[in-house]
Amino acid sequence: MLRRRLGLLLVLLSAVCATTSADADEFIYNGFSGADIFMDNQASVTNDGLLRLTGGMDAKGHAFHTSPLDFSNRSSAPSFSTTFVFAIVSLYNESSSDGLAFVLSPTKNLSSSSEGKYLGLVDPSTIGYYTSDGEFHNLSLSSGEPMQVWVDYDSYSTVLNVTIAPYYNLSTTKPNRPLLSVRYDLSSVLPSTGAYAGFSAATPQLWEAVFTSHYILGWSFKLDGEAATLNYFALSLKTIQELVQKYQPPHRDRPLPSSSYKTILRGLLVPTLVITIGACTIIMKVLMDRLSKSRKAEIEWEKEYGPPSFTYKDLSAATGGFEDKMLLGRGGFGSVFRGVLPRSKKAIAIKRVAPESKQGMKEFIAEIVILGHLRHRNLVQLLGYCRHKQQLLLVYDYMPNTSLDYHLHTQQPNATNLSWSQRFHIIRGIASGLFYLHEDWEQVVIHRDIKTSNVLLDSEMNARLGDFGLARSHDHGADAHTTRVAGTWGYIAPELARLGKATKATDVFAFGVLMMEVTCAKRPIWVDSANGEPLALADWVLAAWRGGSITDAVDPRLDTYVEEEVGLVLKLGLLCSHPSPEARPCMRLVMKYLQRDAPLPADLQPDTLMLSICVSRHDDDERPMSCPATTITDLSKGR
Ligand SMILES: *[C@@H]1O[C@H](CO)[C@@H](O)[C@H](O)[C@H]1NC(C)=O
Repeated sequence: MLRRRLGLLLVLLSAVCATTSADADEFIYNGFSGADIFMDNQASVTNDGLLRLTGGMDAKGHAFHTSPLDFSNRSSAPSFSTTFVFAIVSLYNESSSDGLAFVLSPTKNLSSSSEGKYLGLVDPSTIGYYTSDGEFHNLSLSSGEPMQVWVDYDSYSTVLNVTIAPYYNLSTTKPNRPLLSVRYDLSSVLPSTGAYAGFSAATPQLWEAVFTSHYILGWSFKLDGEAATLNYFALSLKTIQELVQKYQPPHRDRPLPSSSYKTILRGLLVPTLVITIGACTIIMKVLMDRLSKSRKAEIEWEKEYGPPSFTYKDLSAATGGFEDKMLLGRGGFGSVFRGVLPRSKKAIAIKRVAPESKQGMKEFIAEIVILGHLRHRNLVQLLGYCRHKQQLLLVYDYMPNTSLDYHLHTQQPNATNLSWSQRFHIIRGIASGLFYLHEDWEQVVIHRDIKTSNVLLDSEMNARLGDFGLARSHDHGADAHTTRVAGTWGYIAPELARLGKATKATDVFAFGVLMMEVTCAKRPIWVDSANGEPLALADWVLAAWRGGSITDAVDPRLDTYVEEEVGLVLKLGLLCSHPSPEARPCMRLVMKYLQRDAPLPADLQPDTLMLSICVSRHDDDERPMSCPATTITDLSKGR
């Protein structure tokens, strides 16, 4: 009886399997909104339904159709056909992408794969496509223009064809002549158990890649038949067009330095199309060849910025040869000098850094690239740079009123006792600058080191955020393999300390601490003189609130202030520096609160805050991303 029932169950199971696998033989994605796609690393689906595989330098991303393709019960590997439309959008051209690959893999777990690696190469001069009348045209893969690729495999002839053409309009048809046609019997490499189809993309460890994104707009696949045609109207072509316009025109129109360069670049930089057939993986990979890294960096540098904006001679003259008396400060990253430009008499601040490694140089250059593109009244404006031997000199507007930290925490005669209206203005300024970085600009920029000493004050006491990208570890004695937590103690969110990953929420945390610091003029952490115990600002503010008057925490040097505003800032500070990242508001909401366009959540009370701290810690530990203690917690629960 039991055996019979089991038999029945098995039949049922196999019937179920049969239907699923039949479905899995064919699929189409006209855009990826709501698609059931497996993604890892940097891969994500944008609001416009684009599958974005990478964003930023030194990145990789994978995406797979979730269910495996059925290769079982077949004497040989089946024929298949697939087509997809992709776009590589980049601030720079060919050098900024490692490439994009269509992948058939026995596993979706490619976590051990390495960025920038490729497995094979075809003749670089063959990149292009054939029109329907067989004419060959050159093609720049990273131009940002959407392109369509067809990969067709015929198991009888064992021929694998790869065809490519620009995806201009509705009438884009597949060119008759494939770009690549190779004979290879896939049955020797395809697992009979099934394989996952998807994409892999990577960007190099080069600063040119900071704005490079690989997008898939649409994709269809079919086993033993021709893949369905993509719906032109459903693909987010317009979004790609906008991105391209945003990033590319000025850089693409600029001619390369000389025609001999052009020849070299054509030979070496022109992207190459690669087909790789690995032991169990078939990878078709599009990639860019590389000039020597440093040479290329220089060319790209000059392409982007023109000749250096300042000469070393000028900067040296401006600072009296980097005299000690012009020194404004010294930090882990280098020294900052004050200077006056010889001709224009303009006051400037010069940050002199000497990266000890290529990695350090890369990060500083990333700062320049990012800063050079950002414009906001609450950000310190980068005026230019100069490269001198192994040094990098960054030139900024001089901020006569130094840093916020200086005014809050020193008793120097020229330190101002900032009034409440000045402080509130400064807080709103920083919020506005941070909002711009997080939400108002094309790319999300995580500041990583929000603190009062990184807020500078201009002549009108407007706050300006500085020091982007510098918070990353700059190889000062650090082992290249250990990731140090970036940031400054007291401003570091708990999950940042634990997981080491900076996010918008970790910036918001630091901003919350900063708001309280500005209001109370107390350091984020200080040692209580009475008992020698360390005290956190957030606890201090919370204690005042629980004691019935949150304004007790206010800086005693503030004679007058608007009680409502102070209350708002302190409560918002607590909310922003909430231990649980999910509880923190985004900067858009923070702006609304500060502008009184929205009331603070009604349930924001000292007791609920305390309670939620406990609850969220608990929740936190249940998340798989959490620290190793997770396992222990889970185990104890199971008992
Ligand atoms: C590959 O291309 C060749 C040449 O155009 C063509 O004859 C052949 O049918 C193609 N095979 C497949 C599987 O598309």
